[in-house]
Amino acid sequence: MARRIAHEIKNPLTPIQLSAERLRRRYASKLADDFDVFDKCINTIIRQVGDIGRMVDEFSSFARMPEAKLEIGDLSDAVRQAVFLESVRLPEVEVTVDLPEQPIVALFDNRLLGQVLTNLIKNAVEAIEGAGLEAIADPTIIVAARIEGDRARVSISDNGKGWPKENRNRLLEPYITTREKGTGLGLAIVAKIIEQHGGKVELIDAEPDKNGRVGACFTFTLPLRAADSDDVETTEPPTAAAGTDVTEAGGATPEAEKQGEPHLHAVEGT
Ligand SMILES: Nc1ncnc2c1ncn2[C@@H]1O[C@H](COP(=O)(O)OP(=O)(O)OP(=O)(O)O)[C@@H](O)[C@H]1O
Ligand SMILES: [Mg+2]
Repeated sequence: MARRIAHEIKNPLTPIQLSAERLRRRYASKLADDFDVFDKCINTIIRQVGDIGRMVDEFSSFARMPEAKLEIGDLSDAVRQAVFLESVRLPEVEVTVDLPEQPIVALFDNRLLGQVLTNLIKNAVEAIEGAGLEAIADPTIIVAARIEGDRARVSISDNGKGWPKENRNRLLEPYITTREKGTGLGLAIVAKIIEQHGGKVELIDAEPDKNGRVGACFTFTLPLRAADSDDVETTEPPTAAAGTDVTEAGGATPEAEKQGEPHLHAVEGT
């Protein structure tokens, strides 16, 4: 639906833009007196129409997010991969990982999780740049993952400018940004992907760094698989059909289900 609306909005934009360009070509030279006004108006039309087109593109790509294909994998590997890719972004910033020795066997879509980590590390780098690299003694990003009860927890902490004072949770909504060139889609995409995984996200203050500087921390959970369970078919939700007492054993995520969040079954049929 969103994609169709986007398409229908975009349809008339091209003729509007082409007409404005044609008017400019045809009449600009003939308007001696009012040339400035004419030129300004035509430019405004062309520019605004272009902006609408870009916004619609972003909107429809957001609405077209692929389904998550959850597979069992080592979360630590995914974290190392993303950090390796992103640490080249700004060599002045130290990006470190904080991972347990044992693998963290969890259920996730490797590509989408990579997208999550990339967005979050990019935001952290930008928060450090936003505070001014020269103003921070040891610009650092820490990407940590650990097991926490029946879930895995991943946290991305920085010592940048910190979360904006107000409306922290609104940052998860699309198009909310404080950056001049930001689209405000980064965290919305992250939140959507984690929701697809049946996880939870939180925006908290980071632990103070060694100089006492407090930046931002984005933390989220993912469903976990015990390291000894290697049957991939367990992406099926448990059913009561077998007549055993597997239901309500607490292995699933009662908390997420209570709130009507998509759990494992929500990603079937992809
Ligand atoms: N690590 C962080 N520290 C401080 N503020 C942050 C951090 N990450 C995000 N924010 C705030 O949340 C806002 C929304 O982030 P989001 O990633 O959704 O969009 P963006 O980064 O502004 O734009 P884009 O992701 O398109 O480049 C940012 O503009 C910034 O104000
Ligand atoms: Mg961003």
